[in-house]
Amino acid sequence: MRWAVLVGGTGSNLDAMLRANVPVSLVVSHRAEVPALGIAERYGVLAVVLDSKTIRNRERYDEALCKILDAHHIEAIALAGYMRWLTSETVAAYRGRIVNVHPSLLPAFPGMHALDQAYRHGVRWTGVTIHFVDEGQDTGPIIMQQPVPIPPGESQEALESKIHMAEHRLYPQVVWALERGWVHLGVDGRVIWDLSHKEVESWMRGLYLV
Ligand code: GRF
Repeated sequence: MRWAVLVGGTGSNLDAMLRANVPVSLVVSHRAEVPALGIAERYGVLAVVLDSKTIRNRERYDEALCKILDAHHIEAIALAGYMRWLTSETVAAYRGRIVNVHPSLLPAFPGMHALDQAYRHGVRWTGVTIHFVDEGQDTGPIIMQQPVPIPPGESQEALESKIHMAEHRLYPQVVWALERGWVHLGVDGRVIWDLSHKEVESWMRGLYLV
């Protein structure tokens, strides 16, 4: 599939995907001059800035976004630090082909500052979730999760670095699983694995998830 990665910040997940040879055809950033754009350039991937400051209206913004995606024949989308809420039209156009990474074990701590929320709450486990995107905020069907422990006394910086490491390992692997047709979104909105239980388990073992 032709993947677009939508970014808006440091681009470390984009970098992880490109390192894992995910077939990324296009990068779209909603902010100008972010490090993610430099990463796209370094890998020779076409990057477009669709600055959200220049199109304030959410519908108009997504219309422009979809035009760009169409023009580049994009078939699947990975959100990676894209701090905008997609319209229901965009979600419908790519349903089952848009994924997101969220730095918590959803449904706990959705929305902004998930890591900070988990840390302040004092949970002993948090983690990373990769999910299909639906109309809600971080509510889409969960594809895979990686738990991360928070031992007593751990600093927030140390936790942040563990979360990022988990994201960088898990996200490209899940995108590859989608790319290979190992997993998809069923018509009933449930995540369907097209692998036997044993194969999923052995794949997860490779990711140190079991
Ligand atoms: C990640 O922590 C991700 O979970 C969240 O936004 C951050 C993006 O980081 N959705 P990066 O731009 O990929 O470095």
